[in-house]
Amino acid sequence: MKPTIQVHDKHFEVFIEKSVIENRIAALASSINQDYEGKRPLFLAILNGSFMFAAELMKSISVSCEITFLRVSSYQATESSGKVHQILGLLENIEGRDIVVVEDIVDTGLTMIEIKQQLMAQNPASLSVVTLFQKPEALKQPLEVEYVGFEIENKFVLGYGLDYDGLGRNLSDLYVLCPA
Ligand code: XMP
Ligand code: MG
Repeated sequence: MKPTIQVHDKHFEVFIEKSVIENRIAALASSINQDYEGKRPLFLAILNGSFMFAAELMKSISVSCEITFLRVSSYQATESSGKVHQILGLLENIEGRDIVVVEDIVDTGLTMIEIKQQLMAQNPASLSVVTLFQKPEALKQPLEVEYVGFEIENKFVLGYGLDYDGLGRNLSDLYVLCPA
């Protein structure tokens, strides 16, 4: 039986081990290195969730590049449109730049769709997305994600930067909620 951990009121078990995650990240970096050869991409990592992924990814990026960190605030709109996300902390001028958005997980995809729309409005030369995890079954609208680390089932996960109510971001393996 796999060892379990308790976070707040729930139990989680190891789903993807650190070594497997790190090998996959090195492979993602290698694809990015090939695709961006001769360019100078600007990586935009979305806080808080992507901090661990971004750090590991950047260790294997060999093309000349810059990295900066953004936050996405979400709040309920007054209309029925649901959540509205606002990008906070983007000080760089991204016009004409090759942008790579670094995200921990794409779930419904709604956050990333908005991030892409807002960034595209600033006329970058190109825009691609690298996410460590994606839940393909949860996607609500079509979304192109150029680099995906792992496609996972539609279950709640934590660790490797991802949290459950603030806890668990420091765990170096990815955990999944135990069946009830
Ligand atoms: P979507 O794609 O649904 O995702 O707009 C928005 C944000 O929700 C978080 N998220 C998760 N966090 N375990 C987590 O700890 C999960 O399984 C999970 N699924 C989504 C994440 O911050 C993502 O950026
Ligand atoms: Mg996130």
